[in-house]
Amino acid sequence: TAEAAAALAGATRCTLLLLGRSAPPAEEPAWLAGLCDEGSIKRGILQHEFGAPAGAPGTTTHKPAPAEIEAAYRRIMGGREIRFNLSRIESAGARVLYRAVDVRDAAALRGVLNGVVAAHGPVRVIIHGAGVLHDRRIEDKSVGQFDDVFDTKVGGLRALLQVVDAAALRHLVLFSSVSGRFGRQGQVDYAMANEALNKVARRFAAMHPECRTTAINWGPWDGGMVTPALKREFERLGISLIGRAEGAAAMLREMQIADGAVEVVLGSGFGREASGRRLDERHEGVSAQAGKARRHEGGQRTQQRLTVASGTACEADTAIERQLSTSSAFVCELSVERFPFLTSHVIGGRPVLPVAVMLEWLAQAAGDAHSGMAFFGIDNLRVLKGVILRDKSYPVRVDVKATRGDGGTVLVDLALRGGSPNRPVLHARATAVLQPTIDPPADGVAAGWFESQREWRDGRSLYRDVLFHGPHFQAIERVAPCSDRGLWARLRKAPSPREWMRNPTRTRWITDPSAIDAALQMGIVWCHERLGEPSLPSFIARFRQYRVAWPRDGVTAALEVRKSARHQLVADVAFLDARGEPIAQAEGIEWTVDASLRAAFTGAQAGGGAV
Ligand SMILES: NC(=O)c1ccc[n+]([C@@H]2O[C@H](COP(=O)([O-])OP(=O)(O)OC[C@H]3O[C@@H](n4cnc5c(N)ncnc54)[C@H](OP(=O)(O)O)[C@@H]3O)[C@@H](O)[C@H]2O)c1
Repeated sequence: TAEAAAALAGATRCTLLLLGRSAPPAEEPAWLAGLCDEGSIKRGILQHEFGAPAGAPGTTTHKPAPAEIEAAYRRIMGGREIRFNLSRIESAGARVLYRAVDVRDAAALRGVLNGVVAAHGPVRVIIHGAGVLHDRRIEDKSVGQFDDVFDTKVGGLRALLQVVDAAALRHLVLFSSVSGRFGRQGQVDYAMANEALNKVARRFAAMHPECRTTAINWGPWDGGMVTPALKREFERLGISLIGRAEGAAAMLREMQIADGAVEVVLGSGFGREASGRRLDERHEGVSAQAGKARRHEGGQRTQQRLTVASGTACEADTAIERQLSTSSAFVCELSVERFPFLTSHVIGGRPVLPVAVMLEWLAQAAGDAHSGMAFFGIDNLRVLKGVILRDKSYPVRVDVKATRGDGGTVLVDLALRGGSPNRPVLHARATAVLQPTIDPPADGVAAGWFESQREWRDGRSLYRDVLFHGPHFQAIERVAPCSDRGLWARLRKAPSPREWMRNPTRTRWITDPSAIDAALQMGIVWCHERLGEPSLPSFIARFRQYRVAWPRDGVTAALEVRKSARHQLVADVAFLDARGEPIAQAEGIEWTVDASLRAAFTGAQAGGGAV
């Protein structure tokens, strides 16, 4: 952190306030002058702070414990480090202040900052680098140690954001770690803390677009926390250390990328398992996200060399690789074995990923990238190319392209892609809408045209005569007759994810893919009965969900036609509970009406673009 502060000072000549728990360094006593090596300093401590060795004439007989000598030594070295950093920052032309405060203590922090802000103006930049380690296995770790590691990072950031005027901030830089991304033995607390910083950074960035926020997941530096023993371990693993000057320059550069990624991974050689297999060779799981994240939105590799301030590229074993972290928020390998529900969604003889499941996975990706925010809806979900399982398996991922804030709402631009990393295929795109809490619909849901005197019929005949959907998606329980205005139906809720897929990543759905798919089927039924042609959905203009969970006993859905033409149906669907209260609403759903789909529905030819 000191290296980064010095680089910032050199680049901007700003006023820097350094915070740490250590007391401000006092002048060193005369006896310390000229002493540098550990042995002579410790001998000096023994003699001057505790008296000469026991038995020496004219001295005390107190024999200090080794820990006491060690603590005194650390205090001296800490003081020297602070003095050294203060003087080199000053000599870089910046004004520098040091205050002793525990960053977790919001009240004390406020006391310190109030005085400094009154004298020097608002805080424009935060570099949150406070961190401590208590590496050990979970069973050997005490709660106190866990809290110390976790709270220094997360509690410290919370206190900083409480105390500082966020609107005045122009840069928020969080020193996170590759440990949060790849994990590391003995660092469960440290990994959690760093990943929490990553996610708080994303949220803060969305809420404060005027502030360049970045969580840098550093690989190991040559210094600071990295002890000689750790250095040897990294060498063994083939992980190069980040040179101090290079790291500091990389931070400055990251701060200057105005629309850069919020989470970045900077370092070299990490992401390699002990076996030598790269993590990005895996297709599933959290670790894979980082590997996948090497990919840019456009699909090109972004493992670019950073150029340091001098303009030369970081070279050889100190090269810093830059990865846009977690740009792929959802990654899976699509196969019938893993996702048996695909056997119930076969078009043209091949399993096709239903739009309703796409919607669920887009919601999941947006939520995973912004933990703490609730899923409120999706805008402009466009299927550009159906996800068709032509081989045994097919990799699919959801990339977070951009995140914007709009009041308390976070808008997340998403792209659902598939195929090999070298030749990615864009299948769908959408913008997810997240909010801190879910609001009920402002004007209610318009679904008052139900003609209750009409006869309902059993939905089963639809799956025999009209729809291609297999058992997983046979969710239209009952249906009212079609009218020019639309169609009503009673829909079943989806069973738990475990019943639809092997090893699901969630225990419950965010949306209800069964009910939503059935609503899309209602459009197919309407086109069949009123236009005499088959159809498939390809676009949802706006989907809003007003509950965290859909009712267990299913929903009633009202499809209301907005526009129908030879080749297209546009309709809205309202989802209501047993009391007629709104659960969700989809507006501007488009179905492509195409006679050629008739053969595909019966499995005679391959499916087309819409699904
Ligand atoms: N070094 C690396 O290889 C590496 C790699 C990845 C990430 N990082 C991250 O980068 C940051 C800096 O690492 P570093 O290597 O420079 O570590 P370091 O030399 O141990 O410095 C950590 C700093 O945090 C301060 N600190 C700790 N607890 C504090 C608290 N409660 N309140 C105020 N200040 C506190 C310490 O000052 P006092 O002792 O005076 O409080 C110290 O100045 C850490 O967050 C670390 O997780 C480092």
